[in-house]
Amino acid sequence: MDEMLRLAHSVIQHAYAPHSGFPVAVTLKTRDSHLYTGVNVENSAYPLARCAEQIAVGAMVTGGGREITEVLILSTGEEPATPCGACRQILAEFSGPSTTIRCVSTKGIERRYTLGELLPHEFHLSPSTAV
Ligand code: THU
Repeated sequence: MDEMLRLAHSVIQHAYAPHSGFPVAVTLKTRDSHLYTGVNVENSAYPLARCAEQIAVGAMVTGGGREITEVLILSTGEEPATPCGACRQILAEFSGPSTTIRCVSTKGIERRYTLGELLPHEFHLSPSTAV
């Protein structure tokens, strides 16, 4: 098992998912080969749930990381989960279209995408779009 997957397996038990019963863990790799993890954190007020990707991006930014080269998403069950629309945009802030997104299930099925495939034409603020 590679290091990114091993790390995700080691933290998925910490996911706080009492409302959905769907624990998720994410490992991010940055260009300088640092690894950051996150798990989903739900809330009794359901819309306040935070996806594992968002928590991992927070850990990365807090640790000084900026440029994501690879994302591994570990979810429970048979078919691996792909990131939700909001998380695709959040990942795009720190990634490029060729960033690898590995979606892996605890049953061992893995599917690989690029961020460009999952989120073509992502939004980026540029001088022409800023007011
Ligand atoms: N979830 C993630 O953390 N990441 C994903 O890629 C898919 C969904 C979480 C959000 C919520 O806590 C639970 O999975 C069910 O939607």
